[in-house]
Amino acid sequence: MNELMSHTTDMGQAEMFSKDWYNEYFRRAVESRAHSRFCEAVYGRDLCQHGMMDIEEMEFLATLLKPGEKVLEVGCSNGYISEYLHGQSGCDILGLDYADAAIAQAQARTRETASLNFRCADLIRDELPDGDYDTILAIDSIYFMGDYNKTLAKLNARLKPGGRMLIAAFQAREDDEPETILQPGHTRMDKALQTLGFTYVQHDFTRNIREHWIKNYQYSHTLQAEFTAEGNAFLCEARMAENGWFKDHAERGTLVRFLYVIEHNPALA
Ligand SMILES: C[S@@+](CC[C@H](N)C(=O)[O-])C[C@H]1O[C@@H](n2cnc3c(N)ncnc32)[C@H](O)[C@@H]1O
Repeated sequence: MNELMSHTTDMGQAEMFSKDWYNEYFRRAVESRAHSRFCEAVYGRDLCQHGMMDIEEMEFLATLLKPGEKVLEVGCSNGYISEYLHGQSGCDILGLDYADAAIAQAQARTRETASLNFRCADLIRDELPDGDYDTILAIDSIYFMGDYNKTLAKLNARLKPGGRMLIAAFQAREDDEPETILQPGHTRMDKALQTLGFTYVQHDFTRNIREHWIKNYQYSHTLQAEFTAEGNAFLCEARMAENGWFKDHAERGTLVRFLYVIEHNPALA
């Protein structure tokens, strides 16, 4: 169990971050005015986010994508982020997620756009779709795919020679862990990349993630009554279940974030 999963609690009937839980989340979020206001305030733009990438990081990410390139996005949720990146860069995106309610929303909105496609897939149990991708993109979804080493090898196997992975991930430090774990080159993701012999660069979005979690905490409280009034206390509670832990790390300076740009490694089987 990774650190994102391990500090959160069971929420009602569906376990937090399960497929049923995410379906419930995105069924409600897409209709919710309070959720839209929350995303606008916290991320700087409403793309129905559930990750940690603010609009500044998103705009930077869009500059890395090229017109016409073939992108596989893992953990795309209901596809508003994919649509935004597609619009900014002109790349061709296939988005995967196991939340079928979220995928249905994305498909319904984009069925006229040939270069934007969405499919249900369980990133742990299912094979990734065939096809050589120029880029594989994972925005705050890598935590859900199990062991980093296995996941990186699985993603690498679907890249074209010369392709790359773009992986956005946080690292927190608990009291019993060394301070170095927060430094570039020393996070858990760095260790996995180095063990597997990847060549990569990492862009630092630590300031963004710290500000993100402080705002996430503040606006979940500011907008709580609005969420409740529209019958969506679930969405607010979902945010509150994790934002206290993250805000604490943000304030203590024990939370960092990097966008890793990782070259295809042909030497990996
Ligand atoms: C933290 S959210 C991030 C969503 C989006 N990328 C963003 O940044 O807002 C994680 C996403 O991964 C998906 N997910 C989690 N576990 C998964 C799995 N085993 N297979 C496929 N998708 C999964 C969830 O449904 C959710 O959409």
